[in-house]
Amino acid sequence: MSNTFGTIFRITTWGESHGPAVGCVVDGCPSGLALSAGDIQKELDRRSPGKGPVSTERKEPDKVEILSGIFEGKTIGTPISLLIKNLDADSSKYREIKDLLRPGQAEYTYREKYGVIDWKGGGRASGRETASRVAGGAVALKLLKTSGIEIVGYSKEIAGVNADTPVIDLGNIEAIRKRIESNNVRTTDPESAEEMEHAILAAKKEKDSVGGIIEAIALGVPAGLGEPLFNKLSSDLAKAIMSIPAVKGVEIGAGFEAARMRGSEANDAFAIKKGAIYTTTNNAGGILGGMSNGMPIIIRAAIKPTASIASVQKTINYEKKKESEIVVGGRHDPCIVPRAVPVVEAMIALVLADHSIMSGFILRKLPA
Ligand SMILES: Cc1cc2nc3c(=O)[nH]c(=O)nc-3n(C[C@H](O)[C@H](O)[C@H](O)COP(=O)(O)O)c2cc1C
Repeated sequence: MSNTFGTIFRITTWGESHGPAVGCVVDGCPSGLALSAGDIQKELDRRSPGKGPVSTERKEPDKVEILSGIFEGKTIGTPISLLIKNLDADSSKYREIKDLLRPGQAEYTYREKYGVIDWKGGGRASGRETASRVAGGAVALKLLKTSGIEIVGYSKEIAGVNADTPVIDLGNIEAIRKRIESNNVRTTDPESAEEMEHAILAAKKEKDSVGGIIEAIALGVPAGLGEPLFNKLSSDLAKAIMSIPAVKGVEIGAGFEAARMRGSEANDAFAIKKGAIYTTTNNAGGILGGMSNGMPIIIRAAIKPTASIASVQKTINYEKKKESEIVVGGRHDPCIVPRAVPVVEAMIALVLADHSIMSGFILRKLPA
């Protein structure tokens, strides 16, 4: 089982959902990066449950402890080990259904592959594993920030409600971030936020769930990150996003819409302003031929509706090989899109940090 992601800037995540803790080891982070637990905590707090009635009732304080890799407030080039204790795991609801396969969950495939499974809370397949990614991603985000790269994600669509998104640039990114964080669904437009929240609560009332689309933008990425063939920036980003639980699709730039365009519409025309090359449109989503072209990188992730729903579903008892019914108890988000936003940002940051180091844009020893 691969638990490590990245080439030079790598994360290894560990821990089961209802075990004593989850965590992340970050390898390959350049030395000399100012890093505190606060830098990581602020990202973890965004992933934690508790943003209003649309979130799960679980209380996961997700306090991070840095165990290694930092000396006098700076990274020293050694593994950065991050620990997050699991303090609100309630396994009782899982014991009752431990032999029943939960539709939309990973236990059938885990059992077929490994023969055994930690049935408490989904084990490694739990969304809880993404706390480790967000912790590791926070280190990448800090590293990128020092080099002028910023990433912002938001709920673009929830339950079919599409949000208006303004043009985001380095000048307004902080204001947009504030707007996104000011509503319970992490979207860019307050009116759509209300409608989205309504749709989530309606599904919850009917013991159901909804999905949506997360859009994320990376700004300040120089031209030339990535490679032309098998290690394309786009293929690494797609892998990173598709590795997030519940993601069923990825688009870059115009994405699937490009299939319906003509070449004359899809091509981004080149232009020059004050000596800088840019394109007048961005259907490429910031990546041409597998390498960044200096335009904003635009990525969308399709998130399926939460699998754990409180209504009666048909399934089988895996041990008895008998058809059965299941009602999935426990405390689940009726929509995981808002909580997955920081996870998408983290995975993008990990890829961009890795490629920035591989291309020499970020040095392995940061200037003092
Ligand atoms: C932040 C986050 C939280 C999640 N929380 C839940 C949850 O509470 N209940 C649930 O059924 N799935 C949740 N998931 C998704 C499941 O982990 C995932 O659907 C399941 O492991 C099956 O994998 P697949 O959907 O990628 O095929 C969450 C995913 C993320 C990214």
